[in-house]
Amino acid sequence: MRIESGVSLKPYNTFGLPAVAHTLVRVESDADVRQVVDHPQLGRAPKFILGGGSNIVLTRDMPQVVIKVEVMGRRLVEEHARGWIVEAGAGENWHEFVMWTLAQGLPGLENLALIPGTVGAAPVQNIGAYGVELQDRFDSLDAVDLVTGRSHTLRAALCAFGYRDSEFKHSLAGRSVITRVRFFLPKPWQPVLGYLELERKVAETGITQPSPQQIADWVIAIRRAKLPDPAQIGNAGSFFKNPVVTPEQCRDIIGRDPEIVHYPMPDGSVKLAAGWMIDACGWKGKTVGKAGVYEKQALVLVNRGGAIGSEVMTLARAIQESVYGRFGIRLEPEPVVV
Ligand code: EPU
Repeated sequence: MRIESGVSLKPYNTFGLPAVAHTLVRVESDADVRQVVDHPQLGRAPKFILGGGSNIVLTRDMPQVVIKVEVMGRRLVEEHARGWIVEAGAGENWHEFVMWTLAQGLPGLENLALIPGTVGAAPVQNIGAYGVELQDRFDSLDAVDLVTGRSHTLRAALCAFGYRDSEFKHSLAGRSVITRVRFFLPKPWQPVLGYLELERKVAETGITQPSPQQIADWVIAIRRAKLPDPAQIGNAGSFFKNPVVTPEQCRDIIGRDPEIVHYPMPDGSVKLAAGWMIDACGWKGKTVGKAGVYEKQALVLVNRGGAIGSEVMTLARAIQESVYGRFGIRLEPEPVVV
């Protein structure tokens, strides 16, 4: 365990927002987390758990003890007739882990290529893209309780995964440090190609039976074409969740805006494309202060250079108001606002 004071968090959040952690502790193992719990001062202080910083908006300095999770390692745990179980330390980079699984001949995570962040942050928001969500490939995770110092293994039911949501955003926020995550990659491997943009790739290339690596390459190309690379333009991916409404609400909106992009859900509800609504309100490419709306995908807010968290939130509120004014829908931020 390493304890540091007065640490700038700017390099540790993909939005590139300035904030200072009064105390930052780097943990590389469950034992390190237990040392924090048993520490005479740190033990009782409120905590904030930092993964890859790809899903947070920092609006102020952090008086809490910031725990930066740096647990590393990846391995094939077991192979059986129904699939493979692979494990990675929470501090591993998500995309590198996905590429590693493919290089090992362990397919199943290819649709989730190039998502920024760490393995440990992935279950927190139940990352998802191009037809696959983390919960579809989840086996279990190990976490250390910050009150008792005990290590636990949690299966999916206890994680309460939802759309970009889990218990780690609710009762376990600041309470449980994820140290390792295991994935179940089912056999035989089946490609997931139902997402419109992947269907387009199949049609364009004529490759009807792509390999897992081919799908990863397509996903990488699709993401690069419309999502900003955080190494170049600060951002936290989608800034708002796609709102879920009743069929009646949806019919009402379609009556007024027949073009609205919407997806019927298995439970009868309807998911609306927030990016489409923000775009329809004329926000794409706009800038307010030093924060802006990305030119190629209106759901992504970006740091135009030197932005502070409150500028991002001012822009976010203005977008929420205009979407509410036109569609009567309240957009909910997707990243954790601190
Ligand atoms: N659209 C517009 N204008 C825009 C943006 C989108 O008209 O400016 C339309 C698109 O043409 C499309 C629809 O809205 O018809 C949906 O857009 P897209 O396919 O880009 O997906 P999304 O719903 O905006 C979600 C996830 C992304 C994920 C993609 C692909 C959420 C909040 N976002 O975006 O996840 O990569 O689907 O699966 O669910 C993230 O969570 O950070 C993220 C990037």
